[in-house]
Amino acid sequence: MSDLRSSSWFAPDSLRGFGHRSRLKGMGLADVDYKGKPVIGLLNTFSDLNTCHSHFKERVEDLKRGIYQAGGFPVEVPVMSLGEMFMKPSTMLYRNLLAMETEEVLRCHPIDAAVLMGGCDKTIPAMIMGAISADIPSIVLPAGPMLKARWKDVTLGSGSDAWKYWDERRAGNLCEDDWCAIENCIARSAGTCMTMGTASTMAAIAESMGLALPNASCVPAVVAEHHRLAAATGRRAVEMALENLTPSKILRKESFDNAITTTMAISGSTNAIVHVLAMARRAGYMLTLDRFDELSRITPVLANLRPAGAFLMEDFYDAGGLPALLTQLTDLLETSCLTVNGKTLGENIAQFPIINKEVIRVRENPLSPTGGTFVLHGNLAPDGCVIKPTAADPRLLNHTGPAIVFDNYPELKRRMLDESTPFTPDSVLVLRNAGPIGAPGFPEWGMLPIPDRLLKMGIRDMVRISDSRMSGTSYGTCVLHIAPEAAVGGPLALVQDGDLIELNINERRLTLHVSDEELERRRQSWVPPKLYYPRGYGQLFTQHVTQANHGCDFDFLQSCDTKTPPPDIF
Ligand code: FES
Repeated sequence: MSDLRSSSWFAPDSLRGFGHRSRLKGMGLADVDYKGKPVIGLLNTFSDLNTCHSHFKERVEDLKRGIYQAGGFPVEVPVMSLGEMFMKPSTMLYRNLLAMETEEVLRCHPIDAAVLMGGCDKTIPAMIMGAISADIPSIVLPAGPMLKARWKDVTLGSGSDAWKYWDERRAGNLCEDDWCAIENCIARSAGTCMTMGTASTMAAIAESMGLALPNASCVPAVVAEHHRLAAATGRRAVEMALENLTPSKILRKESFDNAITTTMAISGSTNAIVHVLAMARRAGYMLTLDRFDELSRITPVLANLRPAGAFLMEDFYDAGGLPALLTQLTDLLETSCLTVNGKTLGENIAQFPIINKEVIRVRENPLSPTGGTFVLHGNLAPDGCVIKPTAADPRLLNHTGPAIVFDNYPELKRRMLDESTPFTPDSVLVLRNAGPIGAPGFPEWGMLPIPDRLLKMGIRDMVRISDSRMSGTSYGTCVLHIAPEAAVGGPLALVQDGDLIELNINERRLTLHVSDEELERRRQSWVPPKLYYPRGYGQLFTQHVTQANHGCDFDFLQSCDTKTPPPDIF
């Protein structure tokens, strides 16, 4: 019997072995098709309700082509698809479910190596979390970004321009015909959002951690190279199976530092912080927000990509892609870290020059001297919170203003339309009970809308704070992920209308200017909100999800023991 894991299923001269082989033969396969060959599981997150993965139906054929070329046996295994556009209340409610599914699908099947076909925001982190826990050789095939969108002579970016033109429509500056025209063209092809949103950020992180082929994170979804990338990924998966190149052999503590440095340098989505925390903890590294803060302070932003900059993912690809950007950061990266192709990160990036220094800045000309996401602390966020200053109005980054507090999202919608709500441009909008447990599911409500009457006055940004997340394509002075969240009694639960809140980016501090005595008095009368899910997965989620500063994984899935062998089923 060979060393392949799948041999335990297919090689034995036993009743079980007979059963496994006979059923493959029932599908028209012969011994020569699979016997002794690495079985490569193609974990496919295709769904008709996931627009970002609509090309996965055909891309899986490219993967199979590569696997056959290398002497492997491909098996396509559908797993839950998490499409941002249609899932309510939030795909984040289901990230851990896909992580569990990935782990168990890998564990229970005769799979020697896996290709993780992901892209839309939560899919890549979820599948990596599962693959780390299963510890079976795995390689990520990112879906790739959409092509750039164009309207008249304007280049449109996913998400970011939807928010922008929606505000203009609410301000009365955009007619219905133009709004409909934008709707028709803003999603130009298959693929993920083509701004540096969460999908592109997580693909870049997967690559920088060594879990995808060089530049795999940047290849647009529908160009010819994406077909070739898929075939190459398939070929490499076969080799990884033969080498037993598992995630635990690739990932070191420094691999996660590389992921953090990368997300800071690309001014990636704030959501990446939650996902990197969760992935690291699956691998046994108890990463904290402090490490993000340390690396943020020394990492310049070099990717001039929206929403922080000017360009889109297609421009990034043409400019040299992620490896070209990483060549500027070799002193900040651990370049000796191993990657899925068997080479080090340093060896992989050495071949990629920068083609366009406006899109990928050099160290001497950064978009910002420090990282794209800052970690803040203070009496409103004892366990931390985050902000993306590169996507904010610099005027508001050091600001004190009176709070206007919304207890939940329905109340926000109601008070936004209420003429008596005392909004001013200096107000600090506060949304609470919108975190992992309170919402539930940690939705992307953190870019609170600017009230209509302020939009009509020309206001386009305000300080907004919440225990929620925001889309990676969003922008504005939004303080996010406040921990502990209000629903578990974090200080955010005690804020009242009119309280002064100070955002101080220079000192990385968020302060509620209310005395400790007064806060204690308010705490005595605080009543926890009623939780939404009385049963089912939602109840499991609310009972076991950890706070944002711990990565929002389930408490029973975080483990330092990644080596636990699967149960012997034979
Ligand atoms: Fe899928 Fe943005 S909606 S990546």
